[in-house]
Amino acid sequence: QTGMFTLDPGFTSTASCESQITYIDGDEGTLLYRGYPIDQLADNSSFLEVCYLLLHGELPTETELKDYTTTITHHTMLHTQFDRFFEGYRRDAHPMAVMVGTVGALSAFYHDSTDIDDPMQRMIATHRLIAKMPTIAARAHKYSVGQPFVSPRNDLSYSENFLRMCFAVPAEDYEVNPVLARAMDKIFILHADHEQNASTSTVRLAGSSGANPFACIAAGIACLWGPSHGGANEAALNMLREIGSVDKIPEYVKRAKDKSDPFRLMGFGHRVYKNYDPRAKVMQKTCHEVLDELDKRDEPLLQVAMELERIALEDEYFVEKKLYPNIDFYSGITLNALGFPTEMYTVLFALARTVGWIAQWEEMTTDPTQRIGRPRQIYTGAAQRDYVPLDKR
Ligand code: SDX
Repeated sequence: QTGMFTLDPGFTSTASCESQITYIDGDEGTLLYRGYPIDQLADNSSFLEVCYLLLHGELPTETELKDYTTTITHHTMLHTQFDRFFEGYRRDAHPMAVMVGTVGALSAFYHDSTDIDDPMQRMIATHRLIAKMPTIAARAHKYSVGQPFVSPRNDLSYSENFLRMCFAVPAEDYEVNPVLARAMDKIFILHADHEQNASTSTVRLAGSSGANPFACIAAGIACLWGPSHGGANEAALNMLREIGSVDKIPEYVKRAKDKSDPFRLMGFGHRVYKNYDPRAKVMQKTCHEVLDELDKRDEPLLQVAMELERIALEDEYFVEKKLYPNIDFYSGITLNALGFPTEMYTVLFALARTVGWIAQWEEMTTDPTQRIGRPRQIYTGAAQRDYVPLDKR
């Protein structure tokens, strides 16, 4: 017996919020960071320049960019005490578990930048997060493959540093491939922000209670991990591997349309985009650039992905439901070619999205009208009733 309570007439949805950071037109397939189209930024900007844009609202001058780059570069190291922290994880821990645990622990360590009422502490916390995410992510990878950690270097760019920390080994010199580093930077730009997605909303809700930025970003990482959200890039590559060859595609497309089958085309569909995800177009182009550079043009996974996209985009089910490839559809093939294991794909998404989460957290926590988030509910449970003693049940 459930009783429906009448809703307070003042009940309003708390599901939307105002923001000046990122604009999406899901029908047109438009994505703007502070008004700049994502494809123009991916083709012309750098990830750190996009970080500056998202956080400050304007593109930096040459001096501003140089100063910002120097600041971030000088926060990339992790205190050696974190070496022992990593030793507490199992070697086969999922790198996203390592990210959630380690980023959350930053607040236990860098507690001189957790007071959100102190502008200087807030700024240092955001610099530390953007700067240290690549170091933590690279360590999560190195720890899982049993190789020694590689320290960041101040003479390398953000993405060059990250690739070197992930793939350099003491046994030989590591030369960063500039084409691959540029591709990595573009991938980070594509993932930097995406207005009020599930993980950003998580960060905003955590921040609305006054939690410190490290804790809020750890909450965002936890939410991003899900296969319907950031975990879709790992799931999409695993799906392409399972399909294996183009002749198997019709069987999987049939399964994706069968409501009784839980299988979904991973990397397809979106809560907002009912057109082609503009990031997916840039990602596909970047994928070809990476495969060309590595002489892997005939990568079988790419053939399967392109044929699957062709078939799905001509299929009336997907056309009717406006299901198009999203950013996760081609990212896995690209990251696989770059040498990352599938478990690292969502880690890279979290690394890049950290600046978006921070920009949204800053916007919300500096808004004097903001109050603690408190979604309301529609109660459908039992009507009020009296307790029944055990011997009477
Ligand atoms: C990200 O929000 C963001 O901005 C997220 C993100 C970001 O940058 O932060 O863009 C990153 O999370 C991208 C999405 C990654 N997820 C996946 O690729 C997982 C596969 N996609 C689906 O699970 C799904 O499309 C969602 C979760 C992304 C969206 O869920 P919805 O809103 O339920 O899907 P929809 O409105 O697009 O679905 C319409 C219909 C539904 O069927 P009906 O209930 O109307 O009968 O299409 C079906 C869905 O069941 N459908 C699919 C499908 N996606 C939706 N059917 C088969 N395969 C799919 N991939």
